[in-house]
Amino acid sequence: MTTMTGFPIVRMRRTRQNEVLRSLVRETHLQASQLIYPMFIAEDINEPRAIASMPGIVQWPLELVGREVERLAKLGIPGVFLFGIPTEKDEVGSQAYAEQGIIQQAIRRIKAEVPEMLVITDVCLCEYTSHGHCGVIHNGDVLNDESLDLLARMASSHVEAGADIVAPSDMMDGRVGVLRHTLDEQGHKQIPIMAYSAKFASGFYGPFREAAGSAPQFGDRRSYQMDPANAREALREVDLDISEGADIVMVKPAMAYMDIIHRVREHCDLPLAVYNVSGEYSMIKAAAQNGWIEERRVVMEVLTGLRRAGADMLITYFAPEVSQWLKEG
Ligand code: PBG
Repeated sequence: MTTMTGFPIVRMRRTRQNEVLRSLVRETHLQASQLIYPMFIAEDINEPRAIASMPGIVQWPLELVGREVERLAKLGIPGVFLFGIPTEKDEVGSQAYAEQGIIQQAIRRIKAEVPEMLVITDVCLCEYTSHGHCGVIHNGDVLNDESLDLLARMASSHVEAGADIVAPSDMMDGRVGVLRHTLDEQGHKQIPIMAYSAKFASGFYGPFREAAGSAPQFGDRRSYQMDPANAREALREVDLDISEGADIVMVKPAMAYMDIIHRVREHCDLPLAVYNVSGEYSMIKAAAQNGWIEERRVVMEVLTGLRRAGADMLITYFAPEVSQWLKEG
């Protein structure tokens, strides 16, 4: 080496020497304003109810939702993503579009108590149907077009109650178009649609199904959610949703789908949301509780990675903790 003076000329370590330099050359930034927090609101409970498979996450009673959302607002979290857990379920998920449904009541309450909080609602029937599928069942199959009417009713009842954005997650064909058409006809032309465009049939939704009581009673969701093996198909889903009027597209889950996030980012110019789902949350929590990984460090690394891959906004159960950490610096 002594004969090679001036080698190496390029030294990557020069800009890694200290935090000031590192921060100057940092390419990706994570901010509380990019985080959206999913919340479960359950009917007929008086106390928060723990979800065993998701440490730190609970089902909220209506009475306490306002206070919790106020806390989130103080942390700088701009939006919540709501899931309703009704007491009554039936074949056609009637409570999903009932004026006094749990989610409709929760929306009204949040908008009354913390009006600045952006309320995004999940539009899907699986928490409301007795069979746990995301649409109407006939002969063991989920009917596409018949389900669209119900999903449109659900979305418009959310908006009537005060929702700021609706997010269809059912994966029926044509749902974005039907929702856009219905909302426009009812004078809700300003309400954006966040489409779960590339939603994969994933094992990572396991804990969510405990949290939301939405496991399918027979079969699985593979006839409507995407095959984890497909990437080109995700781009077709995105294109379709854009052509039907989506304002924001989504990739879900997150960590095993970084390539999809990247490809969607390169493929279109729409804002891109990424859902860091229940199983991804629980894995990190479980490992951290065992002392096997450092929670804060790993969570920040994962979320930064999702931003680096191309996500504009992150839907994550870690939102309150991350906002707190970001405040602490
Ligand atoms: C409803 C829905 C699911 C999730 C979000 N919306 C479950 C599913 O499709 O089975 C999963 C969210 C998570 O795992 O955190 N269809």
